[in-house]
Amino acid sequence: MSRQLTIGEVAERSGIAATALRYYETRGLIASDRAGSGHRRYPRSVLRRLAFIVFAQRVGLTLREIEETLASLPGDRTPTRADWSTLSARWRTRVDEEIAQLERLKSAMTDCIGCGCLSLDRCALANPDDRAAAAGPGPIVLRDARA
Ligand code: FES
Repeated sequence: MSRQLTIGEVAERSGIAATALRYYETRGLIASDRAGSGHRRYPRSVLRRLAFIVFAQRVGLTLREIEETLASLPGDRTPTRADWSTLSARWRTRVDEEIAQLERLKSAMTDCIGCGCLSLDRCALANPDDRAAAAGPGPIVLRDARA
């Protein structure tokens, strides 16, 4: 069996702070054994699991979504090359959707530049596609914000 890694070694190799590693462990994203001294000892595969977590966060997944994804792998295993290939293909759609949303935001901002009205019912940033009109009369946006 290969030598296990201390939390300091994992932090150094992954670039993730020890505090974050402990937090990931409390969330069940990674696991360690306890040495006789009570110190955490991680299997080397934790580095691949951490890489998966970092990449998933860059794609925009929340820790909860990452937890669910990791838990969905057979035997709660460390993601294999095939797992990563499948999941990254699925996440590409998500990235495309986020790009489209940012393009819409950019387009809406074009109307705001030089405007300054900050109108909750007319400004496309506050009321995209005039959604507030469908919700009824009055200050829908402010009413919803107070609720
Ligand atoms: S601030 Fe006037 S349209 Fe956005």
